[in-house]
Formats: sequence, C-alpha cells, structure tokens
Amino acid sequence: MLEFTMNDGNTIPAVGYGVFLMTPEEVEAHLPEAIDAGYRHIDTANAYFNEKAVGRVVNASDLPREEFFITTKLFPQSYPYEQCKVDIDATLARLNTDYIDLLLLHQPYGEYVQAWKAMEEAVAEGKVRSIGLSNFPQAKLQEILDVATITPAVVQIEINPYWNQHEMKEFLAPYDVTFEAWYPLGHGDEKLLAEPIFAELGKKYSKTPAQIILRWHLQEGNVIFPKTLNPAHMADNIDIFDFELTDEEMARINSLPQNPYYIVPDEAPDFVLTVNDYDAQK
Ligand SMILES: NC(=O)c1ccc[n+]([C@@H]2O[C@H](COP(=O)([O-])OP(=O)(O)OC[C@H]3O[C@@H](n4cnc5c(N)ncnc54)[C@H](OP(=O)(O)O)[C@@H]3O)[C@@H](O)[C@H]2O)c1
Repeated sequence: MLEFTMNDGNTIPAVGYGVFLMTPEEVEAHLPEAIDAGYRHIDTANAYFNEKAVGRVVNASDLPREEFFITTKLFPQSYPYEQCKVDIDATLARLNTDYIDLLLLHQPYGEYVQAWKAMEEAVAEGKVRSIGLSNFPQAKLQEILDVATITPAVVQIEINPYWNQHEMKEFLAPYDVTFEAWYPLGHGDEKLLAEPIFAELGKKYSKTPAQIILRWHLQEGNVIFPKTLNPAHMADNIDIFDFELTDEEMARINSLPQNPYYIVPDEAPDFVLTVNDYDAQK
C-alpha cells in the first residue's frame, strides 16, 4: 500500500475504507471483507454512529492494532475545551483503543479554536497521533493556523474531478498539509462515472472509470477512502497502483468543468446543532 508522509512525520495509507452512512451491522459485515482485501485505513466519525462497531472489528482481527490507521472526527457539540477533553476520552472508549491515528474537527462551527488546543494536548498525552480539519473554509483555516502549535497534518474536504480544490491547495501550499478527498467518486454520481474521458482512459489502461478517477486522486496527492458495500468495487478501489496517467491525461481530467456537489454553509445547518448521544449506538 502506498503511504504518504504528513507534515508531522507520521505516515498515512493513501487508500482507505470510508464508513459514512454505514450502520453498525453493515460495518461488522463489510469492514472484515475490506480488511481481507487489504485495507488498513478506516475513516469514521463520532457522527457516523458506528465507532463501536469499527472498534469491535479491529479488535477481533488477527492483525495488531498498529497495522491499522483509524481516523475519527469530533462534531461541534464537543468543541468547548473541557467538553473536548471528555469527548476525546469517550471516543477512545467507543473505539476501544489506546490511541487515534488521526483526529479531525468535522465541521467549521462553534468553539473550534478551543477544540484545536484540546486536540494538541491529546497529541502530547499520546491519545492522538495526528490532527487535522474537515470542511473548513480558508478564513477559518487561517484562524487555526494563526494559533496552532501543531500545524494541521490533514485537511479533509470534498475533492473529485468536478471539484479539484486547486485553489485551496495553493492557499495551503506553505504548510505541507496532506489532502483527503471526501466524495472521491462524487458519492457514486453516474454522470461523473460516465464522463467519456474515464471510459477512454479505462480502455487504454484496462481499468474501470472509477479506477481511473481514483488513480487521478493519487497522482494529485489526495488520500482517498471510497465507500462501497460491493466486494468487487472494494477490490477494484485498491487495484490502482500498476499504471500511471500521463501529465497530459491529468491535465485533461483537470479541465473538466468545476462545481462542488455540496457547498459548506457559513452558518451551522440544523443537523450540526443536534446534540446526539453517541454512546447509545450499538
Ligand atoms: N468529512 C466529511 O464531511 C465527509 C463527507 C462525506 C464523506 N466523507 C468520507 O468520505 C468517504 C467516501 O465518501 P462517500 O461514501 O460519500 O462517497 P464516494 O466514496 O465518492 O462514493 C460512494 C459511492 O460510490 C460507489 N462506488 C464505490 N466504489 C465504486 C466503484 N469501484 N465503481 C463504481 N461505483 C463505486 C458506491 O456504491 P457501491 O456500494 O455499489 O460500490 C457508493 O454509492 C465516506 O465514507 C466518509 O468516510 C467525509
């Protein structure tokens, strides 16, 4: 598995398995298949309500904990400093692990500056190895960068061929941040997958359109964790290391019209304000 080195010196597997919108039962059914297929990097979140199931699968595996790279994310209700410290411990307990490989602030609302401080302390205490941000616009990233004693290792944002985030990458270039792509396949959008360029390149390299898109991500330097419940897709999504797109092919993909699927609102949407009982999950 290809690994990227982050700005804090830790490494991250370039391809992982995302478990957004998976029930605990689905995680218990499909994450073992993903591990058998070779995945070691798992992307979950407090707000996915499946951390306990992720922990059960990792602990039931024959592989040692150090073989895995587990990312999880805190939601804004956890951001006030004291709450954040409590909720990092609760997250460790739900995952039933001693440390989190990568902890992100999931949404750019509320007391995120306080939360960043609590996360830096969690790194010093050995509870967390790397920290980063998700869905933060440039102005709020700058607020964190201005006070951080640990520069965000990772920024997790929507990235796909319809939204390549080159402007954001230019903004963060001085910080050597690693980019993670959510919606790497446009959330399975048929229009994206049916773009003629992916069929054309798929024919040239004997790969599927999805594999061409995922290879484009790797060559753009993006960490990816496509979600799938389909074992054939699971195998395809890590079978992308035996070919290379040319600079010209990369440029053609990057010339597709640019529009995000989802615009992160300036103010917190209702679903972010809902206080949830994460421990109630199965
Ligand atoms: N930080 C955030 O706010 C945020 C937001 C969204 C997502 N995420 C993370 O990003 C991960 C991925 O995002 P996502 O699940 O929304 O979208 P995605 O990975 O872009 O798309 C998933 C869809 O693509 C299909 N698919 C997967 N592999 C395929 C293949 N080889 N060929 C054809 N179709 C394929 C899947 O269907 P099948 O099951 O049929 O394969 C599924 O419908 C999430 O699981 C989560 O970890 C983070």
